[in-house]
Amino acid sequence: MKYKIFTYGCQMNIHDSEVIAGVLEKAGYEPSETLKDADVVVLNTCCIRENAERKVYGRIAQLKYFKQRNPNFTIAISGCMVQQPHVVEYISKKLPYVDILFSIKNVNKLPELIEECRRIDSITAALAGNSDLAENLEVKHTSSIKAWVPITYGCNNYCTYCVVPYVRGREVSRLPEDILREVKTLADEGFMEINLLGQNVNSYGKNLDKPFDFPELLRRINEIEGIERIRFITSHPKDLSDELVLAMKECEKVCEHIHLPVQSGSSRILKKMNRHYSREHYIELVNKLKDAIPNISITTDIIVGFPGETEEDFLDTLDLVKTIEFDSAFTFIYSKRIGTPAAQMEDQIDDEIKKERLKRLMELQDSITKRKNNELVGTVQEVLVEGESKNDAQKLSGRTRTNKLVNFVGPKELIGHLADVKITESHTWCLIGEAVN
Ligand code: 5AD
Ligand code: SF4
Repeated sequence: MKYKIFTYGCQMNIHDSEVIAGVLEKAGYEPSETLKDADVVVLNTCCIRENAERKVYGRIAQLKYFKQRNPNFTIAISGCMVQQPHVVEYISKKLPYVDILFSIKNVNKLPELIEECRRIDSITAALAGNSDLAENLEVKHTSSIKAWVPITYGCNNYCTYCVVPYVRGREVSRLPEDILREVKTLADEGFMEINLLGQNVNSYGKNLDKPFDFPELLRRINEIEGIERIRFITSHPKDLSDELVLAMKECEKVCEHIHLPVQSGSSRILKKMNRHYSREHYIELVNKLKDAIPNISITTDIIVGFPGETEEDFLDTLDLVKTIEFDSAFTFIYSKRIGTPAAQMEDQIDDEIKKERLKRLMELQDSITKRKNNELVGTVQEVLVEGESKNDAQKLSGRTRTNKLVNFVGPKELIGHLADVKITESHTWCLIGEAVN
């Protein structure tokens, strides 16, 4: 029996797919390169914006063809989309050739669910998540160099545009001993980089019985031998403490990069978004980070066209982007999500205005990214070499500590090691270089 997984959305989903693959392989399944040879297809879905959902529906429509040719072909859907009742209702009524809907919290039951749906001919749903955090699940790592380690699940922040708290549930922190044991095992297996994952890593530990916070977690992981680099996503500005800045500064393995979504440069809009910080507070935080950690790279997420956003609010965003000079930014058009407070707001923005604002924002950020990358030409950067470059097999590929992608000329033996790379060229999306010594 062979399986194929399609993953949509964030890093947490990418990691969840590593767990889905691990569970299926433990049950005897093998990976399939093509859809044609697969017996089971799993879609691990995302619903953060409308176009994420549109892609999933497109894929489901394509799968109908495979189902018609082979009735034993099994289609299973998990991830954030199936945590929305209206999506479950739609799939059940309109897409009856889908076999299984399951909560990712029930991933360990997936092999049983596949068996079951082969016996009975109706959609098998396992959506009520078991409330315990699943520990010790098999993980099929997609890299042997860097690993993803969830530290919290869910989100308590209820930003008014965001569907995540409704689909991923309330924030739960994993126990520090479980995280530390997992990182230790990964270090023993040879992983060099650890990426800690959570919707808001800065609030890690708030619901634990014994006090243990995120800066403390970083310090403990920093002591684990074998690990060379520590990264974390995502940080919420409202919970970024002075202790965290100090821990980042003092822990030599914690990389000089922070992804700190600002969402808007207008304090008025930030308030409507329920973000709990102002433009001034954000600038102050960034200054603290830049003072403590020279050369830190700062990346962000920005939404344009949130309900009620005026041209003046948008100009505040452009102005903030110029003030901070982000290394790069993910920029999004506001997308109305069913069940969120912002979807009920009356002053929704015209699609044309949203598109035009996105274009202006992207042009500005691209010029800043390009200039900042260009400043690195001529410098030597420490790169963790992950493999051959995707676009050019003659080159190797890896990231700087500041999380910039570098494609460079060097011997293949460098894969899996730290290498010094001289930067010779810069583009918006990557740097080009050559290994030194
Ligand atoms: N519309 C557009 N962008 C959104 N994001 C979250 N919800 C929405 C939405 N409804 C963006 C935010 C968040 C990132 C992961 O996705 O910028 O930080
Ligand atoms: Fe969504 Fe806000 Fe939670 Fe991020 S912090 S997942 S944007 S609700």
